[in-house]
Amino acid sequence: MIVAGNWKMFKTSKELKEFFRLSKEFKVPTNVRCIVAPSPTLLTLANQLSEGTSIEVFAQNCHWEEQGAFTGETSAAQILDCGSKGTLIGHSERRQYFAESNETCFKRLQAARKADLEVIFCVGEQLKDREQGKTEAVLEEQLKDIVKEFRSDSKVTLAYEPVWAIGTGVTATVEQVRDTHNWIRSYLEKNDCAWKILYGGSVKPNNFKELASLPEVFGGLVGGASLEAASFQALLDCLTDL
Ligand code: 13P
Repeated sequence: MIVAGNWKMFKTSKELKEFFRLSKEFKVPTNVRCIVAPSPTLLTLANQLSEGTSIEVFAQNCHWEEQGAFTGETSAAQILDCGSKGTLIGHSERRQYFAESNETCFKRLQAARKADLEVIFCVGEQLKDREQGKTEAVLEEQLKDIVKEFRSDSKVTLAYEPVWAIGTGVTATVEQVRDTHNWIRSYLEKNDCAWKILYGGSVKPNNFKELASLPEVFGGLVGGASLEAASFQALLDCLTDL
């Protein structure tokens, strides 16, 4: 299983160093991967500090061009150059605040996989979609092109993050997570695709065990609760014996 911390626009180098210092004591359950995704400014340092620990360091996004005039963006080659072997793509905050579309997310995924970066690809519906009964239609739209091209690619993991549950403290209920993960799983199966699926959205140490116990949930993509080492450890503890 996977516990992936999306650190968004948090942490300075001092805070990063403190996290990695404390992470040396992490007790990681067998067969669990720990991933953190810090800001681009911290990628190199995080990769250096992660050496000899059980933590992998991913980027938060990856541009579709190999290089060029794209101010504020990071290429796959630059991510690799920082020492990372993977990246998030399609996070809802990118889609919501930076106008990323299904098309640009798809292009980013193509570029990342071309460079052999592992990808955690994020999908999820907004509250209005759910209220209008459009959750599945929105997910299908987000998934259809990427499934066609990457169905047999084991270096793609999906993260289902309902936008209304991100950073709001509102976690989807276990039933909502189960039903939506089941729908995604059957959609993937119909398309001969066996990607693993993480859940994200207000995952905390007090709800993670129940969510991660669902057979379709392969772990979590966690924001706030992944920032502090103690809380990260508490998330890892939830996966013991699962
Ligand atoms: P929170 O866990 O803070 O709700 O963030 C979830 C998320 O966006 C992870 O990518």
